[in-house]
Amino acid sequence: MTDLILGIETSCDDTSVALVSRDGTVLACETRAQYSVHAAYGGVFPELASRAHLEAILPVVQEVLQRIDGDISRICAIGVTRGPGLIGSLLVGVNTAQALGAAWGKPVIGVNHLRGHLRSPALDGQSELFPAVLLLASGGHTLVAHQAAPGQIEVLGSTRDDSIGESYDKVARMLGLGMPGGPAIDALAAQGEARYRLPRPMKNEGYEFSFSGLKSSVARLLEREPEAAPADVAASFVAACLDVIRAKLDRAIEARAPRSVVVVGGVSASAQLRDMITELAAHHGIAASLPPRAWATDNAAMIALAAWDYLDQGMETDLRARPNLAFDAW
Ligand code: KG4
Ligand code: ZN
Repeated sequence: MTDLILGIETSCDDTSVALVSRDGTVLACETRAQYSVHAAYGGVFPELASRAHLEAILPVVQEVLQRIDGDISRICAIGVTRGPGLIGSLLVGVNTAQALGAAWGKPVIGVNHLRGHLRSPALDGQSELFPAVLLLASGGHTLVAHQAAPGQIEVLGSTRDDSIGESYDKVARMLGLGMPGGPAIDALAAQGEARYRLPRPMKNEGYEFSFSGLKSSVARLLEREPEAAPADVAASFVAACLDVIRAKLDRAIEARAPRSVVVVGGVSASAQLRDMITELAAHHGIAASLPPRAWATDNAAMIALAAWDYLDQGMETDLRARPNLAFDAW
């Protein structure tokens, strides 16, 4: 029985390998994060990221294969992220996938990382409703789109500068929180009060975002009030972000009357964002679709599930690593 795709994800700072069946059941997924490698640099150091992937990738593959007692006859293909991401990191994944494919005699499929995020709500058997209004909020991307059917995407607006994830990470650094910054801000904000009035950039216009001004306002606030309680600063920052996101999604939902609102990307792990989305969907009388929290941040399970789409469409595969692969490219 060949019922599984082996997924490999190494686009940034997580080395992840998974086994996923066509219906989105995750049989195994192992992820090694590299926080300790990059902590001293306050961000991901690309060369160190590739070296850490190189050390981790085969042990992680082996760990995952133990879940099927090494029976590779169950694997019908290997799906690997080919972009967007850090070139050195992507190459470790793509080269490993090609070597395993050659050794095992299995096809290898190059997957767009963002198509992986798009498929993440369907992991572990969750259903999705279309048409949908989509928010992609990761470390590298922030955009609102209309999705008429699976994979059929019309981008309505994206960010002019920082992504949401990036701004969470930068504010975390200002507050002296460790890496990864997003979860630290999210947790700290839950304990604080949004007592500081911060700007809501572009809230009342269209679908585009701009987060760099908000980040600078937090820096000025910290200069002006060094004694401000970090939890209150985090809560004020998160409130401003969520307020802007909500306004954009309200606008898109009113314009497009979708059946659901879908939120994917690392920031969709945020408890506060998830609560806001649930409330927003209820307000509009539509469904909310979010990845299970374990599959919100980068992981190989979503890459394997996306690879099934490539296989089903009989696509000719492209294995060239592409750091700037477009959102809607295959
Ligand atoms: O999708 P992702 O794992 O990687 C990219 O493709 O970029 O997103 C990473 C981003 C980081 O900026 C991280 O701080 C943020 O997602 N993030 C969170 C949470 N978990 C991860 N932001 C807010 N709350 C979280 N719980
Ligand atoms: Zn990602």
